[in-house]
Amino acid sequence: KITREFINGLPKAELHLHLEGTLEPELKLELAKKNGIDIGQTTIEDVRKTYEYDSLASFLNVYYPGMAVLQTEDDFYQLAMAYLKHAKKDGVKHVEMFFDPQAHLTRGIPFDVFINGYYRACIDARAFNVDAHLIMCFLRDMSANYANEVLNMAKPYRNMILGVGLDSDEHHNPPLKFISPFSNAISSGYHTTMHADIDQVDSIDHIKQALEIINVERLDHGTNIVENQDLVDWVNQRNLGLTSCPLSNGFVTNDMKGKEIVELMEQGVKVSINSDDPAYFGGYIADNYEAIAKKYDLTAQQLVIFARNSFETSWISDFQKNTYL
Ligand code: HPA
Ligand code: ZN
Repeated sequence: KITREFINGLPKAELHLHLEGTLEPELKLELAKKNGIDIGQTTIEDVRKTYEYDSLASFLNVYYPGMAVLQTEDDFYQLAMAYLKHAKKDGVKHVEMFFDPQAHLTRGIPFDVFINGYYRACIDARAFNVDAHLIMCFLRDMSANYANEVLNMAKPYRNMILGVGLDSDEHHNPPLKFISPFSNAISSGYHTTMHADIDQVDSIDHIKQALEIINVERLDHGTNIVENQDLVDWVNQRNLGLTSCPLSNGFVTNDMKGKEIVELMEQGVKVSINSDDPAYFGGYIADNYEAIAKKYDLTAQQLVIFARNSFETSWISDFQKNTYL
């Protein structure tokens, strides 16, 4: 029987976490009041009631407008710090956190405001032994030119950003659309990953583009490879990481996809367990380990493999990896 103590005590890395997805109703209301922004609700219960969706698209429709409350460097700092303290309690030693520059730039928030707030939280988390890094995501429903512009804006902050990713609405927005910004990012030495959402209709085609043409180092979600043995073999040969998010899967498709996650793990694929947007999908990383363990009756040994996979597919140095493994 797996206990919560065991899960919390298991050292883990979190590799699929959107900072903007950690905005709890309490902080959203607090910042709305402080900044004088009308979000349409005035109580925590009413905000919580808006956190309801049955698809990725319906989630994104709640997610982006909610970011309006984030205005100052301190707001971004506070958001990241609240997450990092929670991560510490959940046994997270290392985290690579996504952020969406365009979701803030398009609201008139300058690049230095959010990057400095987020990065200061990464520095301060060292005091409680959480090793925190940032991954800059391009919004795939915006243009490749805009993604290149964002890459240029990030130049003065190159040493604060570990990698680049791709998120938001995947429908009609295939990986190939972003071949230019991704090859530029690779030339600049960024690590790369991309979302391959589980509810995507032409998912296998998109995953092939991401792996064979863009050459990403990880796939976020990506569990649809289970349908195609060639892709499973490819991912295994390259030792490529898949970052799965059981509770998020449950919201998007009514299925945690535990069967697929476990099957891939047993075939040797480096799948990890992560929280995606914990404030919106009902739980942080330890809640995700607990949910999949309970529902699929997993053993302690299987959870240890997921945790090992998270460090093995993280972007920390081999030297540092060996201190965790
Ligand atoms: N998929 C796409 N976009 C997102 C996600 C996701 O899981 N989370 C936050 N933005
Ligand atoms: Zn995600």
